[in-house]
Amino acid sequence: MICRTQEDIDGMMLAGKITGQALKYAETLIKPNISTFELDKLIEKYIIDKGAIPSFLNYDGYPASICASINSVVVHGIPSVNTILKEGDIVSIDVGAIINGYNGDAARTFAVGKISPEKARLIEVTKQCFFEGIKHLAIGEKLGKLSYAIQKHAESNGYSVVRELVGHGIGHDMHESPEVPNYGLPSQGIRVKEGMCLAIEPMINMGERYIYINEDGWGIETRDGKPSAHYENTVIVTKNGVVITTLIED
Ligand code: MF3
Ligand code: CO
Repeated sequence: MICRTQEDIDGMMLAGKITGQALKYAETLIKPNISTFELDKLIEKYIIDKGAIPSFLNYDGYPASICASINSVVVHGIPSVNTILKEGDIVSIDVGAIINGYNGDAARTFAVGKISPEKARLIEVTKQCFFEGIKHLAIGEKLGKLSYAIQKHAESNGYSVVRELVGHGIGHDMHESPEVPNYGLPSQGIRVKEGMCLAIEPMINMGERYIYINEDGWGIETRDGKPSAHYENTVIVTKNGVVITTLIED
């Protein structure tokens, strides 16, 4: 959506805050031996207790309130009692909340206990990709500048960018136009407008970029079985710069 009023901005900020807080809460739960089902139930309750609605639940038939994607699962991992976090895993938690008709959507990739330096670097560079991208997000500029910056940062670190899934506009609906690819050329895409709300979400693979949809019909996994990381925030492009609605400072 394009925020046209202070009410729109306040609405997006509150939805983003609850979403960001849910991820901060998620971080406290991540440890070896917890199942992704337990994570889902606890985070779902957290969102409902804040007076918000978990936006993923029943979205296109999705059966849970979070996506929990471990190691080679890129995104859309369905929580399960049989999926147990173990030391050395990386897990991305993706969550969305709706309040007063406004959406927040965000994801973080967390370490489970002690992880390898290779996985730690993948998590760090994926987060950097988001921040490199938004340096180029400004009113009147081509959206492709952001996409190009994300791709360049990932590839210059030896990683690859998932292309089949992209970021998106967000507002009264979780998925709105425009698409926000994490790859492309600076000359591509629409021009960024004042008030534009976007969910920007680099999905970065340690190995090759190729993915497949697993047998449950949701989970997206790397073809080469190597790890993947995801980092997402909902942002608003304002006259005074980019505001990240889902980022909670420590
Ligand atoms: N955060 C995801 C996205 O940006 C949404 C998860 S898909 C759902 O597209 F079905 F689980 F909702
Ligand atoms: Co999203």
